[in-house]
Amino acid sequence: MAIRLGDTAPDFTADTTQGTISFHEWLGDSWGVLFSHPKDFTPVCTTELGYVARIKPEFDKRNVKVIGLSVDSVESHNKWEGDIGETQGTPVNFPMIGDPDRTVSDLYDMIHPNANDTLTVRSVFVIGPDKKVKLTITYPASTGRNFDEILRVIDSLQLTAKYKVATPVNWTDGNDVIIGAAVSDDEAKTLFPNGWKTVKPYLRVLPQPGK
Ligand code: BEZ
Repeated sequence: MAIRLGDTAPDFTADTTQGTISFHEWLGDSWGVLFSHPKDFTPVCTTELGYVARIKPEFDKRNVKVIGLSVDSVESHNKWEGDIGETQGTPVNFPMIGDPDRTVSDLYDMIHPNANDTLTVRSVFVIGPDKKVKLTITYPASTGRNFDEILRVIDSLQLTAKYKVATPVNWTDGNDVIIGAAVSDDEAKTLFPNGWKTVKPYLRVLPQPGK
């Protein structure tokens, strides 16, 4: 069954390039990004994994653990990682799940038979420290993901978990935010004593809290 926002991320135990992990235990108190690749030794995936390795410090800064998956074996991942380091400039510095029997792929509904019977699509799951799914995105095999966008969404998720705000179109860290629709003006006066700009009664804008 499809995984929806707010669901508990299914737990599993799997072999990875960094040993056997129990997913929830491995996540601990961190946020997590679980993302799937259609297949090892393929060009788009090679660029994606190299890029995630390069920006891993950005995930670390946000207390986010990243973990990849494809339906190939850990042995295959290990061989492929040599190519990724060589061609993309950064060695893969996060675990890759080997899922040849598709246990995790099926658990997370990462195989979409009308797209491809056997390969995973490019799924992304962002998981909060409460183990709830905060974001799902699905890309086709032919389109590489934008992992800067994943970081941008994580910034929004972490901000909105802390403050009763929402982030507007194309928001990036440091830009103005919006007071959540469920917050009354009376409550907003307590939450945001420095005030806000009322563009419309339902559109109340203020500088990003905590900045
Ligand atoms: C790729 O990573 O380039 C790729 C993988 C599977 C199907 C199509 C493209």
